[in-house]
Amino acid sequence: MELRSVEELMDLLHAPRGARNTAGGSGDPVDPYDHALRTAALLRRSHPADKELQVAGLVHGIGRLLRPGDDTNHTDRAQRAARAIRPLLGERVSRLVGLHGAARRYLGAFPPGRGPSAPGAPVPARQDGPMTPSEAAAFERDPLAGDAVTLRQADEAATVDCLDAGVLEDWRTVLELVAARQSRLGALD
Ligand SMILES: [Fe+2]
Repeated sequence: MELRSVEELMDLLHAPRGARNTAGGSGDPVDPYDHALRTAALLRRSHPADKELQVAGLVHGIGRLLRPGDDTNHTDRAQRAARAIRPLLGERVSRLVGLHGAARRYLGAFPPGRGPSAPGAPVPARQDGPMTPSEAAAFERDPLAGDAVTLRQADEAATVDCLDAGVLEDWRTVLELVAARQSRLGALD
């Protein structure tokens, strides 16, 4: 499935409002709507100029919303989300969302205290397990790897009630801005 309008995307993000997702990476019950807003808000605070990174934070979890009840692994869900948003939000946002699945496996390759992973980071499921050293080296060569790790760290941090993250409507203008830029670029193809 591909998303074709900001309206369609916002409807999808609104859908789980008030729902509890107990299958999240941390195992803690997280409202997917709040989680999306918190992830985006953390990135807006840490990277105020990077609207695409913030938007990637907002939409990074839609793989599960696109296919409710789906129990495929985090990496596959991230890829599904990346495909769905590419036409609307463009290549960089799409790649960041796809790579945040890989970033989880990358961070899992470093035991807590010995690498970039935050202490207490969830242990990935086995089919979705930590990267091998050669996979990690290949991941690091991707120019977007650093931003994808930033996205994943915000994703992990956004499971706690950390800040007032506002409401989805606050993001409409930014989503429209990123979508408009993409449609201009698309017209040049
Ligand atoms: Fe997440």
